Amino acid sequence: MTEDARLAELAQIESAVWAELERAVHSRFTGSVAPHEWRRAVLATQDADGPQARSVVLRDLLLDSRELVFYADARSPKVAQLRRDPRAVLLCWSSTLGWQLRLRCHIEVETSGLDVTARWAHIRNRPAAHDYLSPLAPGTPMPDGHGGLVVTPLPPERLRETFAVLSARVEAIDWLELHARGQRRAVFDAQGARWLTP
Ligand SMILES: Cc1cc2nc3c(=O)[nH]c(=O)nc-3n(C[C@H](O)[C@H](O)[C@H](O)COP(=O)(O)O)c2cc1C
Repeated sequence: MTEDARLAELAQIESAVWAELERAVHSRFTGSVAPHEWRRAVLATQDADGPQARSVVLRDLLLDSRELVFYADARSPKVAQLRRDPRAVLLCWSSTLGWQLRLRCHIEVETSGLDVTARWAHIRNRPAAHDYLSPLAPGTPMPDGHGGLVVTPLPPERLRETFAVLSARVEAIDWLELHARGQRRAVFDAQGARWLTP
């Protein structure tokens, strides 16, 4: 394969990755059809004791700035961790595509401003708003007597205090393809695109 053909193939893979991410953030449960597998990603951060990981739902993609957007409770440990150290990894796996993405990101947390206000207005009357309306900060031990369920959420107007928009600027994509003919792996970052040994 010539150098040009090699670069063209890598460029095609990178475009396909962004196209799939775009499809993922706009996919929804419709009837019995599940959303794109990349709509849910694993977010890895670090706290004082070491690594942490959890699922998040990818809500938006800003292609020009290569940012993936998700939401969290501003009081949650992940937000505190990202305020201390904004370096993080988003991990996506799709069995349909046979593709794993490890996205090295720099994450900004915002709790005020026009963008937060617009997104907050969009979700405040949706069931998803309940995820950010616990009266106690996520991870706080609960008082006894209610089987672990939040019985009295904060009223939706308090969402303004608890709702955080997290924008993950993707700095490097580590793409791995599992395929019957063999695995392929490529990296796309500030140094360009290149194949790696899987
Ligand atoms: C499928 C799924 C999707 C989730 N999506 C989100 C999300 O978008 N934002 C969020 O803050 N937590 C989400 N969670 C909950 C987190 O995984 C985590 O349990 C919670 O936010 C506390 O994380 P922390 O203690 O690291 O802050 C989701 C959990 C699951 C199982």
